[in-house]
Amino acid sequence: MKSAIFTGKGGVGKTTILSTLSRLLARDGHRVLVIDCDPSMNLAMSLGVPLSQVKPISDTRSLIQESMEAEEEDDHTRHQTELDLHLEDYIMEARDGVQLVVMGTIPFGGAGCLCSSISLVKMLLGYLSTDAHNQDFILIDSQAGVEIFGRGLAREFDASFVITEPTPKSLEVARQSMKLARDLGVKRQILVVNKVEEDGDRRRASETLGADADAICSVGYDRDVVWADKEGDLVLDRAPQAQLISDVMKLKRCMLET
Ligand SMILES: Nc1ncnc2c1ncn2[C@@H]1O[C@H](COP(=O)(O)OP(=O)(O)OP(=O)(O)O)[C@@H](O)[C@H]1O
Ligand SMILES: [Mg+2]
Repeated sequence: MKSAIFTGKGGVGKTTILSTLSRLLARDGHRVLVIDCDPSMNLAMSLGVPLSQVKPISDTRSLIQESMEAEEEDDHTRHQTELDLHLEDYIMEARDGVQLVVMGTIPFGGAGCLCSSISLVKMLLGYLSTDAHNQDFILIDSQAGVEIFGRGLAREFDASFVITEPTPKSLEVARQSMKLARDLGVKRQILVVNKVEEDGDRRRASETLGADADAICSVGYDRDVVWADKEGDLVLDRAPQAQLISDVMKLKRCMLET
């Protein structure tokens, strides 16, 4: 099983790229499970699952209690049996057979931090990493910014897809993400400059981040993506020939090599 987390500044394209990549992997016959760890819960819609059908794992108080206890004991596998009993209720079938788990949102103003929900996802990851579940790929969509690394969620993951736009602010968040992923022992960093419009965009990224320009993946700015988004549709269905799809195919190869 390969695990990857998608991070980056707000609006850089994490959810668009992850949802497309997960479907391309699933179309090749891989078993792919994606987890939406962003309380904005956009991933379901990006995979063709209506929000009304989403059942977030944070809805279950008993599971949250178990995960907090497991976290205190630093044991994310202790409650496997209990989790097994509940998990099937929370896995949704998305387009192309991608399996989707949604962490959940902030239920009301002043509800507090997301620590307990993130603990629950960590417990879930501990469970999924055992042979019992047998996924080929687990991809995690995260909230904008770097907080997710502070919670240690991606510890020893196989890959971190650091998505950035070619702007100084976005590249700065990418730089922080790369440092924090290294701290957590993430094995491979895949730097993706999205919404590229000219050659200088890659160069800017390589100069700012000190990365070899050839090692940077790029995804072009694509009006088909904007158009599909405005129509509430998915670019893979609305415009399968779109530039973004062929650019994400290259990311698929990176994921397969990881
Ligand atoms: N390559 C692209 N070309 C043009 N528009 C794009 C491209 N990639 C993403 N977008 C657009 O950028 C916007 C943000 O994309 P997306 O929601 O995937 O970003 P995000 O990083 O997940 O955002 P958030 O931080 O809010 O979760 C959307 O309107 C999407 O259609
Ligand atoms: Mg998103």
